[in-house]
Amino acid sequence: MKFDIQATDSQSNARAGEITTDHGIIQTPIFMPVGTVGSVKAVHQRELENDIKAQIILGNTYHLYLRPGLNVLQKAGGLHKFNGWNHPILTDSGGYQVYSLANTRKIKEEGVTFRSHIDGSKHIFSPEYVMDIQRIIGADIIMAFDECTPYPCEYGYARKSLDMTHRWLRRCCDRFDSTEGLYGYQQTLFPIVQGSVYKDLRKQSAEVIASFEREGNAIGGLSVGEPAEMMYEMTELVCDILPKDKPRYLMGVGTPANILESIALGVDMFDCVMPTRNARHGLLFTTQGVINIKNEKWKDDFSPIDETLGGYVSTFHSKAYLRHLLISQEYLAAQIASVHNLTFYLWLVGQAREKIKEGTFTEWKNQMVKQVSQRL
Ligand code: GUN
Repeated sequence: MKFDIQATDSQSNARAGEITTDHGIIQTPIFMPVGTVGSVKAVHQRELENDIKAQIILGNTYHLYLRPGLNVLQKAGGLHKFNGWNHPILTDSGGYQVYSLANTRKIKEEGVTFRSHIDGSKHIFSPEYVMDIQRIIGADIIMAFDECTPYPCEYGYARKSLDMTHRWLRRCCDRFDSTEGLYGYQQTLFPIVQGSVYKDLRKQSAEVIASFEREGNAIGGLSVGEPAEMMYEMTELVCDILPKDKPRYLMGVGTPANILESIALGVDMFDCVMPTRNARHGLLFTTQGVINIKNEKWKDDFSPIDETLGGYVSTFHSKAYLRHLLISQEYLAAQIASVHNLTFYLWLVGQAREKIKEGTFTEWKNQMVKQVSQRL
């Protein structure tokens, strides 16, 4: 993997760059649509490629390990071959899903014991095993096994958890560095900064994570219920310590405003279920603000979903038609709304990139944060 910075903003820490992987180039800042089980919900790969213009998608180790399972993924020749997405993929390690989804989990130094949310079967994830699983899935960027602490979290717990996440990182790196990819292309491992909302812990974690000198770094444990200002404060502190010449990935973030503010702090990569999950509930992100398409006011509004955005579904279909589909619980509603919301997210980060290169990012960002956050 290679990361080149092409432009930096003079009034903030925003940067425009390019990550080169064996499955292609990712232009940053970038948003990664979430494809938990190897599919972005309600969205076909052709739409991801042609309409949304996604450059990288995310998969989840926890889900893919449980279903379809490692045998199928290995026989398929890895996730790219299995799902037909011949562009970069990143997999999260399960260090979040195992805490939020699995039943009766027990965290020990060795690893986490949990029961599957699908059939109750018992499993153990250790840092080493999670590396082996992600070798089999075959994502271009794989994540270290960590503990994502909840919010609020007592200082003592956050400190102990952090130390364990750092020890687990050592084990992840040892296993990763002593193995090779199974399918003939390079994979890279990103470590994850934790430390809850405590400045000293975040600083310590960022320093430890930076000292591992991996090719990119992630910030975890945020957007878990803390106020946005706290999230920005932690992100700023951590970005100040993480190396400037490597990509920074803020995990699980967030709203359009969260993404723009975090780009200004120096973040390059984002993922979040928000555009797809909200789409299925009728919440649309547009260049003019947020729309609840179920609202009566859109009943006979035959204007396009979002004219400014361009993109096929956003200009072709009207708000009234999408509202009708959603109220009628048609499958097509989820598809149109998801493609639209993802097109908007990719447009937003693409615009941010252009503005950084033009030297007008900060002014644009301040105006855009207000515009896209308003409720229509
Ligand atoms: N997704 C969102 N936050 C986190 C985190 O802290 N750790 C991991 N592994 N995934 C996440």
